[in-house]
Amino acid sequence: MDFVNEINKLRKEKNAIILAHYYQVAEIQDIADYVGDSLGLAQQASTTKADMIVFAGVHFMAETAKLLNPEKLVVLPDLNAGCSLADSCPPLPFKHFVEQYPDHMVISYINCSADIKTMSDLICTSGNAVQLVEALPKDQKIIFAPDKNLGGYINRITGRDMILWDGTCEVHDILSTEAVIRMKMEHPHAKLIAHPECKATVLELADFIGSTTALLAYTQKSKDDTFIVATETGILHQMQRSSPDKRFLIVPSDETCSCNDCPYMKMNTIEKLYLALKNGSPSIELTPDVLEKGRKPIEKMLEMSLKLGLIK
Ligand code: 13P
Ligand code: SF4
Repeated sequence: MDFVNEINKLRKEKNAIILAHYYQVAEIQDIADYVGDSLGLAQQASTTKADMIVFAGVHFMAETAKLLNPEKLVVLPDLNAGCSLADSCPPLPFKHFVEQYPDHMVISYINCSADIKTMSDLICTSGNAVQLVEALPKDQKIIFAPDKNLGGYINRITGRDMILWDGTCEVHDILSTEAVIRMKMEHPHAKLIAHPECKATVLELADFIGSTTALLAYTQKSKDDTFIVATETGILHQMQRSSPDKRFLIVPSDETCSCNDCPYMKMNTIEKLYLALKNGSPSIELTPDVLEKGRKPIEKMLEMSLKLGLIK
């Protein structure tokens, strides 16, 4: 079957929009109406006029789209496409954790479940986390969840002392510092660019740290020709496409496998995307209570990001 052709017919018939994250396989990125980082995707979801959203990403991203569009049909090609970082923060232990710090504001990275969002005052992404925290009063006490690597990075940059939940992304946290050092020695003129979900020892060596969109923009604007890339492999598709004459070297993990594929992101395939669009399932369903409480901190993030000029 010609999936691309069928998807093109169906998306018109159903007035559907296909939103894809940069870690999706290349053929999904190529067919998407919009490819972006979590901030861009949330913004697209908040402004779309489509009746149906096909979310080519992971579960928390599709949930975010549903929280912003309770009345729309939101489908995820593979409902098992979860996230180790979101899973590292289960609702009940998190509720008890938050109760220990009653005078603290709760900021959660968007990579968390809708239940965690209902317990949060503000959501952030890797694209706006530093600026959102900096915009808060200096004496504001903060709990940050679930990524301790991103939280630690924000603490170092802003001089804050946020209490961190002990969660990590299984893909970024195991990228090898030793490999980074070796690659920097082998390519002394290369720039190391890293996602803030990487551990501190990798981030300390980076020339630039940012969200997937920021990393891509850095490679597009830079006059350098070689980049050591510390994030998931999917981003290489857009980097190579927009800068075909530049070299992109991916940092391997500590494991025997040197391919940094997120196993959850890669569960979506073009065939599953076609089926989700055709069948209107599997869809994201949330209770009215979660829809109401979970939407507020995301809307606050979008409002603050607009005010700070981080999105248009
Ligand atoms: P961003 O694309 O927002 O930087 O997030 C990366 C990520 O890990 C998504 O799961
Ligand atoms: Fe989650 Fe990490 Fe995969 Fe992103 S790369 S979806 S944070 S497991």
